Amino acid sequence: MPGDKSISHRYAILAALAEGRSTFEDFAPGADCRSTLSCLGRLGVAVDVEASGAVRIVGRALGGFREPADALDAGNSGTTLRLLMGSVAGHALACRFVGDASLSRRPMRRVIEPLEQMGARVEATEGHAPLTVRGARLHGVAYRQSVPSAQVKSAVLLAGLHAEGTTSVTEPAATRDHTERALATFGGMVTMSGLTVSVAGGQHLGAQTLAVPGDFSSAAFWLVAAAALPDSSVEIENVGLNPTRTGLLDVLGRFGARVYVEVTATVGGEPRGIVRVEHDQSGAVTIASDEVPGLIDELPAIAALGAHGGEVTVTGAAELRVKESDRIAALVAGFRALGIAAEERADGFIVGGARVGAGRSPRPSGGRADARGDHRMAMAFAIAALAARQPSTIDGADAVVISYPGFFDTLNRLTT
Ligand code: S3P
Repeated sequence: MPGDKSISHRYAILAALAEGRSTFEDFAPGADCRSTLSCLGRLGVAVDVEASGAVRIVGRALGGFREPADALDAGNSGTTLRLLMGSVAGHALACRFVGDASLSRRPMRRVIEPLEQMGARVEATEGHAPLTVRGARLHGVAYRQSVPSAQVKSAVLLAGLHAEGTTSVTEPAATRDHTERALATFGGMVTMSGLTVSVAGGQHLGAQTLAVPGDFSSAAFWLVAAAALPDSSVEIENVGLNPTRTGLLDVLGRFGARVYVEVTATVGGEPRGIVRVEHDQSGAVTIASDEVPGLIDELPAIAALGAHGGEVTVTGAAELRVKESDRIAALVAGFRALGIAAEERADGFIVGGARVGAGRSPRPSGGRADARGDHRMAMAFAIAALAARQPSTIDGADAVVISYPGFFDTLNRLTT
Protein backbone atom coordinates (compact mmCIF):
# COMPACT_ATOMS: atom_id res chain seq x y z
CA MET A 1 0.00 0.00 0.00
CA PRO A 2 1.08 3.60 -0.40
CA GLY A 3 2.20 5.20 2.88
CA ASP A 4 -0.52 6.31 5.24
CA LYS A 5 -1.84 9.78 4.40
CA SER A 6 -2.92 10.79 7.92
CA ILE A 7 0.39 9.73 9.47
CA SER A 8 2.48 11.34 6.69
CA HIS A 9 0.83 14.76 7.22
CA ARG A 10 1.58 14.56 10.94
CA TYR A 11 5.19 13.41 10.51
CA ALA A 12 5.88 16.25 8.07
CA ILE A 13 4.39 18.92 10.33
CA LEU A 14 6.02 17.64 13.53
CA ALA A 15 9.36 17.35 11.73
CA ALA A 16 8.99 20.99 10.66
CA LEU A 17 8.41 21.95 14.31
CA ALA A 18 11.26 19.76 15.57
CA GLU A 19 14.98 20.48 15.88
CA GLY A 20 17.18 18.67 13.37
CA ARG A 21 16.79 16.62 10.22
CA SER A 22 14.05 13.99 9.94
CA THR A 23 13.72 11.29 7.28
CA PHE A 24 10.56 9.41 6.40
CA GLU A 25 10.56 6.29 4.23
CA ASP A 26 7.33 5.29 2.47
CA PHE A 27 5.90 8.79 2.83
CA ALA A 28 2.39 9.03 1.30
CA PRO A 29 2.75 9.65 -2.46
CA GLY A 30 -0.64 11.33 -3.00
CA ALA A 31 -1.36 14.97 -3.81
CA ASP A 32 -2.72 15.75 -0.32
CA CYS A 33 0.59 15.15 1.43
CA ARG A 34 2.38 17.03 -1.38
CA SER A 35 0.16 20.01 -0.45
CA THR A 36 1.39 19.81 3.15
CA LEU A 37 5.04 19.64 2.00
CA SER A 38 4.68 22.62 -0.33
CA CYS A 39 2.94 24.70 2.38
CA LEU A 40 5.76 23.85 4.80
CA GLY A 41 8.26 24.96 2.15
CA ARG A 42 6.54 28.35 1.97
CA LEU A 43 6.80 28.62 5.76
CA GLY A 44 10.58 28.42 5.37
CA VAL A 45 11.05 24.70 6.04
CA ALA A 46 13.67 22.82 3.97
CA VAL A 47 11.86 19.86 2.40
CA ASP A 48 13.45 17.35 0.07
CA VAL A 49 11.56 14.56 -1.72
CA GLU A 50 13.93 11.86 -2.95
CA ALA A 51 13.47 9.70 -6.03
CA SER A 52 12.71 6.74 -3.74
CA GLY A 53 9.78 8.69 -2.32
CA ALA A 54 11.55 9.23 1.01
CA VAL A 55 11.11 12.72 2.44
CA ARG A 56 13.75 14.69 4.37
CA ILE A 57 12.78 17.72 6.43
CA VAL A 58 15.00 20.10 8.37
CA GLY A 59 12.97 21.44 11.28
CA ARG A 60 12.82 25.09 12.33
CA ALA A 61 11.84 24.29 15.96
CA LEU A 62 8.64 25.38 17.68
CA GLY A 63 7.72 28.94 16.74
CA GLY A 64 10.27 28.99 13.91
CA PHE A 65 8.05 29.40 10.83
CA ARG A 66 8.75 32.36 8.52
CA GLU A 67 5.89 34.55 7.29
CA PRO A 68 5.02 33.28 3.80
CA ALA A 69 5.25 35.70 0.91
CA ASP A 70 2.15 34.25 -0.76
CA ALA A 71 -0.96 32.32 0.21
CA LEU A 72 -0.48 28.69 1.23
CA ASP A 73 -2.41 26.39 -1.10
CA ALA A 74 -3.85 23.36 0.72
CA GLY A 75 -5.33 22.03 -2.54
CA ASN A 76 -7.99 19.40 -1.79
CA SER A 77 -6.65 18.57 1.66
CA GLY A 78 -8.65 19.27 4.81
CA THR A 79 -5.90 17.78 6.96
CA THR A 80 -3.32 20.19 5.48
CA LEU A 81 -5.50 23.22 6.07
CA ARG A 82 -6.75 22.38 9.56
CA LEU A 83 -3.47 21.09 10.99
CA LEU A 84 -1.48 23.98 9.55
CA MET A 85 -3.99 26.55 10.85
CA GLY A 86 -3.23 25.20 14.31
CA SER A 87 0.52 25.02 13.65
CA VAL A 88 0.89 28.68 12.59
CA ALA A 89 -1.53 30.16 15.16
CA GLY A 90 1.16 30.69 17.82
CA HIS A 91 3.58 32.41 15.44
CA ALA A 92 3.82 36.20 15.11
CA LEU A 93 2.79 36.16 11.47
CA ALA A 94 -0.21 36.42 9.17
CA CYS A 95 -0.84 33.44 6.96
CA ARG A 96 -3.41 33.25 4.19
CA PHE A 97 -4.71 29.81 3.19
CA VAL A 98 -6.49 28.91 -0.04
CA GLY A 99 -7.76 25.61 -1.38
CA ASP A 100 -9.60 24.10 -4.33
CA ALA A 101 -13.36 24.49 -4.82
CA SER A 102 -14.13 21.44 -2.66
CA LEU A 103 -11.92 22.53 0.25
CA SER A 104 -13.31 26.07 0.04
CA ARG A 105 -16.79 24.69 0.82
CA ARG A 106 -15.75 22.71 3.89
CA PRO A 107 -16.51 23.93 7.43
CA MET A 108 -13.62 25.66 9.20
CA ARG A 109 -15.46 27.27 12.15
CA ARG A 110 -14.78 24.11 14.11
CA VAL A 111 -11.06 25.03 13.98
CA ILE A 112 -11.43 28.81 14.04
CA GLU A 113 -13.39 28.76 17.31
CA PRO A 114 -10.78 27.04 19.50
CA LEU A 115 -7.87 28.92 17.90
CA GLU A 116 -9.60 32.24 18.61
CA GLN A 117 -10.27 31.13 22.20
CA MET A 118 -6.53 30.59 22.50
CA GLY A 119 -5.80 34.14 21.31
CA ALA A 120 -5.31 33.91 17.52
CA ARG A 121 -7.49 35.81 15.02
CA VAL A 122 -8.89 34.23 11.87
CA GLU A 123 -10.53 36.13 9.02
CA ALA A 124 -12.66 33.78 6.95
CA THR A 125 -15.51 34.08 4.50
CA GLU A 126 -18.52 32.63 6.29
CA GLY A 127 -16.40 30.07 8.07
CA HIS A 128 -14.69 28.81 4.91
CA ALA A 129 -11.37 29.15 3.09
CA PRO A 130 -9.89 31.36 1.74
CA LEU A 131 -8.96 32.49 5.23
CA THR A 132 -6.18 34.32 7.05
CA VAL A 133 -4.77 33.23 10.39
CA ARG A 134 -3.24 36.08 12.40
CA GLY A 135 -0.99 34.41 14.88
CA ALA A 136 -0.52 35.67 18.44
CA ARG A 137 0.82 34.65 21.83
CA LEU A 138 -1.52 31.83 22.71
CA HIS A 139 -2.76 30.67 26.09
CA GLY A 140 -3.84 27.14 26.89
CA VAL A 141 -7.53 26.24 26.92
CA ALA A 142 -9.64 23.25 27.87
CA TYR A 143 -11.60 22.77 24.66
CA ARG A 144 -14.64 20.53 24.23
CA GLN A 145 -15.30 19.57 20.62
CA SER A 146 -18.88 19.35 19.42
CA VAL A 147 -18.14 16.91 16.55
CA PRO A 148 -15.68 14.01 16.69
CA SER A 149 -12.81 15.19 14.45
CA ALA A 150 -9.17 14.16 14.55
CA GLN A 151 -8.30 17.17 12.41
CA VAL A 152 -9.79 19.62 14.91
CA LYS A 153 -8.20 17.78 17.85
CA SER A 154 -4.84 17.86 16.09
CA ALA A 155 -5.11 21.55 15.17
CA VAL A 156 -5.75 22.47 18.80
CA LEU A 157 -2.90 20.27 20.07
CA LEU A 158 -0.46 21.75 17.53
CA ALA A 159 -1.50 25.25 18.61
CA GLY A 160 -1.20 24.08 22.23
CA LEU A 161 2.49 23.26 21.69
CA HIS A 162 2.96 27.00 21.13
CA ALA A 163 0.71 28.16 23.98
CA GLU A 164 1.42 29.23 27.53
CA GLY A 165 0.27 26.58 30.00
CA THR A 166 -1.59 23.39 29.20
CA THR A 167 -4.05 22.85 26.36
CA SER A 168 -6.54 20.03 26.49
CA VAL A 169 -9.10 18.75 24.02
CA THR A 170 -12.08 16.59 24.89
CA GLU A 171 -13.83 14.75 22.07
CA PRO A 172 -17.41 13.46 22.05
CA ALA A 173 -16.08 10.12 20.71
CA ALA A 174 -12.60 8.70 20.16
CA THR A 175 -11.08 9.52 16.75
CA ARG A 176 -7.79 8.49 15.15
CA ASP A 177 -4.94 9.19 17.57
CA HIS A 178 -1.99 9.52 15.17
CA THR A 179 -1.13 13.00 16.43
CA GLU A 180 -0.89 11.79 20.01
CA ARG A 181 1.30 8.81 19.05
CA ALA A 182 3.49 10.93 16.77
CA LEU A 183 3.95 13.65 19.39
CA ALA A 184 5.25 11.08 21.86
CA THR A 185 7.54 9.64 19.15
CA PHE A 186 9.02 13.10 18.47
CA GLY A 187 9.84 13.42 22.17
CA GLY A 188 6.80 15.49 23.17
CA MET A 189 4.84 15.08 26.39
CA VAL A 190 1.22 14.23 25.75
CA THR A 191 -1.22 12.86 28.28
CA MET A 192 -4.42 10.96 27.57
CA SER A 193 -7.25 10.41 29.99
CA GLY A 194 -10.48 8.98 28.60
CA LEU A 195 -11.57 11.24 25.76
CA THR A 196 -9.28 14.11 26.85
CA VAL A 197 -5.79 14.76 25.44
CA SER A 198 -3.46 17.40 26.89
CA VAL A 199 -0.17 18.99 25.87
CA ALA A 200 1.98 21.59 27.60
CA GLY A 201 3.33 24.56 25.67
CA GLY A 202 7.00 25.29 25.10
CA GLN A 203 8.27 21.74 24.63
CA HIS A 204 11.16 20.68 22.40
CA LEU A 205 10.58 18.14 19.65
CA GLY A 206 13.47 16.12 18.23
CA ALA A 207 13.98 15.00 14.62
CA GLN A 208 13.13 11.37 13.79
CA THR A 209 13.85 8.72 11.17
CA LEU A 210 10.74 6.66 10.61
CA ALA A 211 8.99 4.46 8.06
CA VAL A 212 5.31 5.22 7.43
CA PRO A 213 3.02 2.16 7.46
CA GLY A 214 0.79 1.33 4.48
CA ASP A 215 -2.49 3.22 4.37
CA PHE A 216 -5.34 1.15 5.81
CA SER A 217 -7.88 3.43 4.11
CA SER A 218 -6.36 2.60 0.71
CA ALA A 219 -6.17 -1.09 1.59
CA ALA A 220 -9.89 -0.92 2.45
CA PHE A 221 -10.86 -1.04 -1.24
CA TRP A 222 -9.05 -4.36 -1.82
CA LEU A 223 -10.31 -5.83 1.45
CA VAL A 224 -13.88 -5.00 0.44
CA ALA A 225 -13.38 -6.37 -3.07
CA ALA A 226 -12.01 -9.67 -1.70
CA ALA A 227 -14.90 -9.94 0.78
CA ALA A 228 -17.46 -9.25 -1.95
CA LEU A 229 -16.27 -11.27 -4.94
CA PRO A 230 -16.81 -15.07 -4.92
CA ASP A 231 -13.57 -17.12 -4.88
CA SER A 232 -11.52 -14.05 -4.01
CA SER A 233 -8.95 -13.43 -1.34
CA VAL A 234 -6.35 -10.75 -0.78
CA GLU A 235 -3.42 -10.45 1.61
CA ILE A 236 -1.91 -7.06 2.37
CA GLU A 237 1.44 -6.63 4.12
CA ASN A 238 2.93 -3.78 6.06
CA VAL A 239 -0.38 -2.00 6.49
CA GLY A 240 -1.14 0.31 9.42
CA LEU A 241 -3.28 -1.37 12.06
CA ASN A 242 -3.89 1.46 14.50
CA PRO A 243 -7.10 0.34 16.26
CA THR A 244 -8.68 3.78 15.81
CA ARG A 245 -8.65 3.12 12.04
CA THR A 246 -9.59 -0.53 11.58
CA GLY A 247 -13.34 -0.62 12.27
CA LEU A 248 -13.79 -1.98 8.73
CA LEU A 249 -12.39 -5.39 9.72
CA ASP A 250 -15.28 -6.01 12.08
CA VAL A 251 -17.76 -4.94 9.40
CA LEU A 252 -16.25 -7.40 6.90
CA GLY A 253 -16.64 -10.20 9.44
CA ARG A 254 -20.29 -9.30 9.96
CA PHE A 255 -20.80 -9.20 6.18
CA GLY A 256 -19.66 -12.82 6.06
CA ALA A 257 -15.99 -12.70 5.04
CA ARG A 258 -13.11 -14.55 6.71
CA VAL A 259 -10.71 -11.99 8.18
CA TYR A 260 -7.20 -12.69 9.53
CA VAL A 261 -5.02 -10.00 11.16
CA GLU A 262 -1.48 -10.17 12.51
CA VAL A 263 0.46 -7.26 14.01
CA THR A 264 4.10 -7.82 13.01
CA ALA A 265 5.77 -4.61 14.27
CA THR A 266 5.20 -1.27 15.93
CA VAL A 267 7.12 1.71 14.55
CA GLY A 268 6.77 5.21 15.99
CA GLY A 269 4.01 3.87 18.25
CA GLU A 270 1.97 2.75 15.22
CA PRO A 271 1.20 -0.99 14.88
CA ARG A 272 1.48 -2.51 11.41
CA GLY A 273 1.10 -5.98 10.00
CA ILE A 274 -0.69 -8.34 7.67
CA VAL A 275 -4.40 -8.49 6.84
CA ARG A 276 -5.97 -11.30 4.85
CA VAL A 277 -9.61 -11.28 3.73
CA GLU A 278 -11.38 -14.15 1.96
CA HIS A 279 -14.85 -14.21 0.48
CA ASP A 280 -17.29 -16.56 2.16
CA GLN A 281 -20.85 -15.18 2.36
CA SER A 282 -22.58 -11.88 1.54
CA GLY A 283 -24.89 -10.61 4.25
CA ALA A 284 -26.47 -7.46 5.62
CA VAL A 285 -24.50 -5.01 7.74
CA THR A 286 -25.75 -2.04 9.73
CA ILE A 287 -23.45 0.71 10.96
CA ALA A 288 -24.55 3.27 13.56
CA SER A 289 -22.95 6.41 14.98
CA ASP A 290 -20.81 4.70 17.65
CA GLU A 291 -18.82 2.87 14.96
CA VAL A 292 -18.54 5.79 12.53
CA PRO A 293 -15.35 7.54 13.77
CA GLY A 294 -13.38 4.27 13.44
CA LEU A 295 -14.34 3.80 9.78
CA ILE A 296 -15.42 7.23 8.51
CA ASP A 297 -13.11 7.16 5.47
CA GLU A 298 -14.01 3.53 4.71
CA LEU A 299 -17.77 4.14 4.38
CA PRO A 300 -17.58 4.66 0.59
CA ALA A 301 -15.72 1.32 0.25
CA ILE A 302 -18.15 -0.38 2.63
CA ALA A 303 -21.07 0.89 0.53
CA ALA A 304 -19.66 -1.13 -2.38
CA LEU A 305 -20.48 -4.34 -0.45
CA GLY A 306 -24.10 -3.49 -1.23
CA ALA A 307 -23.40 -3.74 -4.96
CA HIS A 308 -22.28 -7.36 -4.64
CA GLY A 309 -25.36 -8.97 -3.15
CA GLY A 310 -25.06 -7.58 0.36
CA GLU A 311 -27.01 -4.85 2.05
CA VAL A 312 -25.36 -1.89 3.78
CA THR A 313 -27.26 0.47 6.07
CA VAL A 314 -25.41 3.45 7.52
CA THR A 315 -26.81 5.91 10.07
CA GLY A 316 -25.23 8.58 12.27
CA ALA A 317 -22.79 9.61 9.55
CA ALA A 318 -23.94 13.14 8.63
CA GLU A 319 -20.23 14.16 8.67
CA LEU A 320 -19.98 12.42 5.28
CA ARG A 321 -21.78 15.44 3.82
CA VAL A 322 -18.80 17.73 4.57
CA LYS A 323 -15.98 15.57 3.23
CA GLU A 324 -14.23 16.09 -0.15
CA SER A 325 -17.76 15.88 -1.63
CA ASP A 326 -21.18 15.42 -0.05
CA ARG A 327 -20.42 11.71 0.15
CA ILE A 328 -24.00 10.69 0.93
CA ALA A 329 -25.43 12.43 -2.13
CA ALA A 330 -22.48 11.50 -4.39
CA LEU A 331 -22.54 7.84 -3.37
CA VAL A 332 -26.25 7.37 -3.87
CA ALA A 333 -26.25 9.20 -7.22
CA GLY A 334 -23.22 7.26 -8.46
CA PHE A 335 -24.46 3.86 -7.32
CA ARG A 336 -27.84 4.43 -8.94
CA ALA A 337 -26.09 5.45 -12.15
CA LEU A 338 -24.32 2.07 -12.04
CA GLY A 339 -27.68 0.29 -11.66
CA ILE A 340 -27.28 -0.40 -7.93
CA ALA A 341 -30.21 0.17 -5.58
CA ALA A 342 -29.36 3.01 -3.19
CA GLU A 343 -31.31 5.39 -0.98
CA GLU A 344 -30.25 8.59 0.69
CA ARG A 345 -30.93 9.41 4.36
CA ALA A 346 -30.15 12.69 6.16
CA ASP A 347 -27.33 10.98 8.07
CA GLY A 348 -26.49 7.97 5.94
CA PHE A 349 -27.61 5.63 3.16
CA ILE A 350 -28.90 2.16 2.32
CA VAL A 351 -27.26 0.29 -0.57
CA GLY A 352 -28.39 -3.00 -2.12
CA GLY A 353 -30.53 -5.62 -0.47
CA ALA A 354 -34.18 -6.58 -0.79
CA ARG A 355 -35.46 -3.53 1.09
CA VAL A 356 -34.39 -1.07 -1.55
CA GLY A 357 -33.90 -3.37 -4.50
CA ALA A 358 -37.11 -5.39 -4.76
CA GLY A 359 -37.37 -6.98 -8.18
CA ARG A 360 -33.89 -5.90 -9.27
CA SER A 361 -31.68 -8.20 -11.27
CA PRO A 362 -29.08 -10.09 -9.25
CA ARG A 363 -26.20 -8.17 -10.82
CA PRO A 364 -26.22 -4.43 -11.47
CA SER A 365 -26.18 -3.26 -15.09
CA GLY A 366 -23.14 -1.01 -14.85
CA GLY A 367 -23.24 2.53 -16.21
CA ARG A 368 -21.56 5.89 -15.88
CA ALA A 369 -20.91 7.41 -12.44
CA ASP A 370 -19.50 10.82 -11.51
CA ALA A 371 -16.82 10.81 -8.79
CA ARG A 372 -17.49 14.54 -8.24
CA GLY A 373 -13.75 15.12 -7.86
CA ASP A 374 -13.62 12.91 -4.75
CA HIS A 375 -10.87 10.26 -4.61
CA ARG A 376 -12.78 7.88 -2.36
CA MET A 377 -15.89 8.09 -4.57
CA ALA A 378 -13.84 7.12 -7.62
CA MET A 379 -12.39 4.07 -5.86
CA ALA A 380 -15.73 3.02 -4.32
CA PHE A 381 -17.41 3.18 -7.74
CA ALA A 382 -14.62 1.08 -9.25
CA ILE A 383 -15.09 -1.67 -6.62
CA ALA A 384 -18.88 -1.51 -6.99
CA ALA A 385 -18.57 -1.69 -10.80
CA LEU A 386 -16.77 -5.06 -10.50
CA ALA A 387 -20.21 -6.51 -9.73
CA ALA A 388 -21.78 -5.25 -12.96
CA ARG A 389 -22.74 -7.18 -16.10
CA GLN A 390 -21.34 -4.48 -18.40
CA PRO A 391 -18.23 -2.27 -18.23
CA SER A 392 -18.74 1.01 -16.38
CA THR A 393 -17.24 4.47 -16.77
CA ILE A 394 -16.25 6.70 -13.85
CA ASP A 395 -16.02 10.39 -14.63
CA GLY A 396 -13.38 12.25 -12.63
CA ALA A 397 -11.55 9.02 -11.79
CA ASP A 398 -8.21 10.86 -11.86
CA ALA A 399 -9.12 12.14 -8.36
CA VAL A 400 -7.41 8.98 -7.05
CA VAL A 401 -4.12 10.95 -7.19
CA ILE A 402 -5.21 12.59 -3.92
CA SER A 403 -4.51 9.46 -1.85
CA TYR A 404 -3.68 6.51 -4.12
CA PRO A 405 -2.01 7.38 -7.46
CA GLY A 406 -1.45 3.70 -8.31
CA PHE A 407 -5.03 2.59 -7.60
CA PHE A 408 -6.04 1.66 -11.17
CA ASP A 409 -2.73 -0.10 -11.90
CA THR A 410 -3.23 -2.27 -8.83
CA LEU A 411 -6.88 -2.88 -9.76
CA ASN A 412 -5.74 -4.17 -13.16
CA ARG A 413 -3.11 -6.38 -11.56
CA LEU A 414 -5.63 -7.91 -9.13
CA THR A 415 -8.42 -8.49 -11.63
CA THR A 416 -6.49 -9.91 -14.63
C1 S3P B 1 -8.36 12.81 9.15
C2 S3P B 1 -9.48 12.91 9.95
C3 S3P B 1 -10.84 12.67 9.43
C4 S3P B 1 -10.79 11.92 8.11
C5 S3P B 1 -9.81 12.54 7.16
C6 S3P B 1 -8.42 12.47 7.73
C7 S3P B 1 -7.04 13.09 9.76
O1 S3P B 1 -11.47 13.92 9.21
O2 S3P B 1 -12.06 11.85 7.53
O3 S3P B 1 -9.83 11.88 5.92
O4 S3P B 1 -6.01 12.79 9.15
O5 S3P B 1 -7.04 13.61 10.89
P1 S3P B 1 -12.25 14.73 10.39
O6 S3P B 1 -11.24 15.17 11.39
O7 S3P B 1 -12.90 15.89 9.69
O8 S3P B 1 -13.23 13.77 10.97
